[in-house]
Amino acid sequence: MHVFYSKRELESHLQKERNKNRTVGLVPTMGALHQGHLSLVKKAIAQTNIVVVSVFVNPTQFDQKEDLEKYPRNLQRDLDLLNEVNPNIVVFAPSADEIYSGNVNSKSYDFDGLDKVMEGEFRTGHFDGVGTIVELFLRTVHPDKAYFGEKDFQQLQIIKKLVEKRQLPYEIIGCPIEREANGLAMSSRNERLPKTTRNEAGFIHSTLVTAKSKFGTESAKEIKDWVKSEFAKNSVFELEYFEITDESTLTPMLKKQANQKYRAFIAVYADGVRLIDNLRLN
Ligand code: PAF
Repeated sequence: MHVFYSKRELESHLQKERNKNRTVGLVPTMGALHQGHLSLVKKAIAQTNIVVVSVFVNPTQFDQKEDLEKYPRNLQRDLDLLNEVNPNIVVFAPSADEIYSGNVNSKSYDFDGLDKVMEGEFRTGHFDGVGTIVELFLRTVHPDKAYFGEKDFQQLQIIKKLVEKRQLPYEIIGCPIEREANGLAMSSRNERLPKTTRNEAGFIHSTLVTAKSKFGTESAKEIKDWVKSEFAKNSVFELEYFEITDESTLTPMLKKQANQKYRAFIAVYADGVRLIDNLRLN
């Protein structure tokens, strides 16, 4: 397996591959890989010739120092997992210095308001940090296709917006959420949950599924009130937000419009770990 720590060496390797007319797929990750990531990697392998997986815990997208410090890191385990999937995967695992050269700051983006709600509202500066690192990876790797999970659906829409606004010639592909047996959306953060909490965390997804079943007959306000009351009764999971939005603009739904797609989004704290999930409603 090829593992690169330097941008320049990665670029020169990929240039040689491109000269042989090979297509390139990019899967950006922050490591602590799980089956959700591996499903993106497998899709990239099926659709492109050379697959680059970046493993980088990006400091500029964390609004809380403690969350950044506690983010799980295990590069050797990640490399072993990737090697099992395919030993030809190219891994890019730069240091923060290699990426930011001592200036650990985000650029400022205008995402046409997509970043003003939900994750953007509760995590100040998060999407500027995501935009900064994803743009840098795209401009370094020049992938034909780049793959992102729908667990971070707002992030996916924002990256599509970034590519559109910056007129970058890369195809952004969203991939379905992978779930644990109890329905909990796979996330690197799940590792930090105590076992009993992790077992009970199917509650988050089952709440979304019930919200979806109510969507045909109840208003957004009624559904939101119901979700709040379910969480108020639960002492393990603390609701940060539940929102129903238009899928493309991410604006909260006030009144259902014909031919619009809607999605429910949720963020929850459990034992100090922040978990997010979402579900298409129609
Ligand atoms: O989704 C993630 O893991 C991160 O936000 C990403 C896209 C790798 C950027 O750091």
